[in-house]
Amino acid sequence: MIIRLAETKDVKSIIAIGQKVLLDFSFKEEDLNKYISDPAHLVYVADDKKIVGFISIRIEGEDAEIDAIAINSDRQHQGIGTQLLLEAIKDLVDKNVINLLLDVRRKNMQAFRFYKKNGFTTTSIRPNYYPEPNLDDAFCMKKEIIKQEKEKVRRKNEIILAIESSCDESALAIVKNGKEIIANTVDTQIKEHQKYGGVYPELASRLHLQNMPKLLKYLMSLKDFDFTTITHVAFTQGPGLPGALQIGSVVAKTIASYLDVPLIGVNHLAGHIYAGEFVKPYSYPALALVASGGNSEIVLLKESMSFKIIGQSLDDAIGEALDKVARLLDLPYPGGKAIDELVGNNEYPLINLPKVNVDGYNFSYSGIKSHVARLIEKEKSKGPLTDKTKCSIAYSVEKVFIDQLLEKLFIAAKDLKIKNIILGGGVSANSYLRKEITNRCKASRYNLFIPPLELTTDNAAMIGLVASKKIAINRMCKFDTPTSANLDLEIEGE
Ligand code: KG4
Repeated sequence: MIIRLAETKDVKSIIAIGQKVLLDFSFKEEDLNKYISDPAHLVYVADDKKIVGFISIRIEGEDAEIDAIAINSDRQHQGIGTQLLLEAIKDLVDKNVINLLLDVRRKNMQAFRFYKKNGFTTTSIRPNYYPEPNLDDAFCMKKEIIKQEKEKVRRKNEIILAIESSCDESALAIVKNGKEIIANTVDTQIKEHQKYGGVYPELASRLHLQNMPKLLKYLMSLKDFDFTTITHVAFTQGPGLPGALQIGSVVAKTIASYLDVPLIGVNHLAGHIYAGEFVKPYSYPALALVASGGNSEIVLLKESMSFKIIGQSLDDAIGEALDKVARLLDLPYPGGKAIDELVGNNEYPLINLPKVNVDGYNFSYSGIKSHVARLIEKEKSKGPLTDKTKCSIAYSVEKVFIDQLLEKLFIAAKDLKIKNIILGGGVSANSYLRKEITNRCKASRYNLFIPPLELTTDNAAMIGLVASKKIAINRMCKFDTPTSANLDLEIEGE
């Protein structure tokens, strides 16, 4: 079957179909002959050795109106109407038509559903528009075809500029079609925060302000990349430091307005969860372990972009707790990384730490952390900590913190009969965690999805990847969308 422009020889068949199928069909042969040769009319037919359907559209400047569409009764529900509509829309786009309009009878639910499925929305209702003997209201419907067509073209050549500024890393990335990282640049503020022993929020905002223009200039200087080819702009909407989030958001909104492209707000934790998808596509249902500076969570993903938190830390996040212990051991910020570097793949004598008992799939770190603080204080009262003591404490804390996460994760996987495990977040850079989770998944024949080391800590590539998934499900955001320091992960995919 082909869809083609109508010719004079089709007129009789078109009229026969219209009279059989449509209630309000009044075209005469001379009308149709005129429409076929008139540039302000479009008449397409579906030709399957004989004419099985047609569409007739009238153009008036930026608007066009469908005055009839009909498919032979023995060929309905085969997608022929949609094919006619799509072919006509291609022509209307070339003719710079913006709105495609139509009226449909309230009682004609089949037609109403057809238009709704094809992206039309109801703009108004005209009571008793259709006269007796078939008195009925008219639903006036509209489809903004230019906007939708532009978005379709954009999606085919999707190039996302992603911006991350939730904490102490200013980061920009260019992600193509949700898979390919064209550029991924991170300006970490770690050195500047080190003198405060942790992240100083006001300084983080000021540094994002300084770093963003530098990173943008870098992207603009890339030889094989044309900044004007960006089709969408994504930014971290939350959770994170309020001031820091605002900087990334305002940069994103400015660039998206300037380039006149859609904007996507992304949940930072969804980014961490999906960082591993740059390695291989995920399978579902899956359990994700998010271990970062601000969060420790077990998240159930029944399907792509569906998040349900089934377990979490009742107090400190694992990264935060590691950072605090590291500070007591006089190790530099970020402490989790420093502990990992100190311990490496070595094993040291384990110190006795209290066992934590928390309900369900939740965990807790503050009790052990306080216990370790007292222990370190006691050791320090005897004199400076020896390297041996430091290593022993660091190794024991790292092991007990991570074992607690893994224990709950694998109990949940067993209970819920889930075979796909995802790891994400800054702490997923930890050597012991990566080794242990890999071994346990191998032993239990679970599929493990784990990000490459360079995508474990905050970066914008992961934000770009999630943005691509949100574009596919039409989850772009408005330009006045606020950032949110406590953005809820569970609403991300809804
Ligand atoms: O994910 P992230 O960059 O920031 C948040 O989104 O929260 O995580 C930062 C956390 C810090 O607490 C840092 O100490 C920890 O990740 N971290 C590590 C390692 N590298 C970073 N923890 C353990 N081992 C590492 N190798």
